[in-house]
Amino acid sequence: MSQFTFDVSATDGLARRGTISMPRGVVRTPAFMPVGTAATVKAMYLDQVRDLGSDIILGNTYHLMLRPGAERVARLGGLHDFARWPHPILTDSGGFQVMSLASLRKMSEQGVTFRSHIDGTVHELTPERSIEIQGLLDSDIQMQLDECIRLPAERSEIERAMELSLRWAERCAVAFGDQPGKAMFGIVQGGDDAALRIRSAERLRDMGLKGYAVGGLAVGEPQDVMLAMLGETVPVLPHGKPRYLMGVGTPDDILKSIMRGIDMFDCVMPTRAGRHGLAFTRHGRINLKNARHAEDAAPLDERSACPATRDYSRAYLHHLVRTQETLGAMLLTWNNLAYYQQLMSGARDAIERGAFADFVAETTEGWVRGER
Ligand code: GUN
Repeated sequence: MSQFTFDVSATDGLARRGTISMPRGVVRTPAFMPVGTAATVKAMYLDQVRDLGSDIILGNTYHLMLRPGAERVARLGGLHDFARWPHPILTDSGGFQVMSLASLRKMSEQGVTFRSHIDGTVHELTPERSIEIQGLLDSDIQMQLDECIRLPAERSEIERAMELSLRWAERCAVAFGDQPGKAMFGIVQGGDDAALRIRSAERLRDMGLKGYAVGGLAVGEPQDVMLAMLGETVPVLPHGKPRYLMGVGTPDDILKSIMRGIDMFDCVMPTRAGRHGLAFTRHGRINLKNARHAEDAAPLDERSACPATRDYSRAYLHHLVRTQETLGAMLLTWNNLAYYQQLMSGARDAIERGAFADFVAETTEGWVRGER
């Protein structure tokens, strides 16, 4: 298996059950990719992340170029050896994190210069340097450098950033070249403007890339706008290539996006929310900070196979969260990633059975009905 390939084995409406194959392993889609920003999925051993059914994790160019540095990671054998994750890794290109974290950003045709949020040093990220860094990290799926803007925004501004992102996609494709076992994905931009989204998707499609992401969503717009943009964009993208919705989302966002033809997701939500005392479960979200859990001996879900979910009382989790103990973050992150991966596995099974709509209805009903 020396080539990067994608096969769709079943469809149910627009939802797809597929497999991405590459030298480091296979990714069963629809897939959720836990976020491992700084070469670690926070509060988790990567063996645990794997055991929960994760086929691929995400890393960030922006963080890793600043610390410990891409050249250093390369000298240490690449990101997989460094972090002890031998399976596929997707890296984001840095553009989005520059916009959300760095200061004194300056965009030009050439690229973006910015000041590090860590030590104030000045750095430049061009499309070529982003691909070079992702190559030094030895990432299996690399993302084009793009400019993602927050909504609401002026149409002219959305159009400028979208067109710039298309030119950067071309430069990234040239810099990436021909690497049969790896992929470089383009990123559809265009804000909340259907015509711009369609133009972006068509131009990327015509570049014949190995996969396509939809970016610039979940950046402040309501869910129905996000779903409407998927409705416009996805039909333009080729059936035979993976489609990745970046930075999304809640379990509800994910199910509704799978229903619209998305294959891959990443989001900090399960990991970040876990560190803040919030548990995702079959019964919906449970805020363990809440005093009503202080003497509740029941676990989050006695029917779960995840020890964090099944074996620890809500009272104990409440205590750990209230005292800000490290173990609280560890157990709730474990619970949340277990829930997300169980949701994805349920979605994949349901698509294979041609019962995805029923799966979504039953799952949603569980969240609405709430606990016990
Ligand atoms: N993560 C979430 N949204 C985006 C986006 O639009 N672009 C990139 N590069 N990463 C993202």
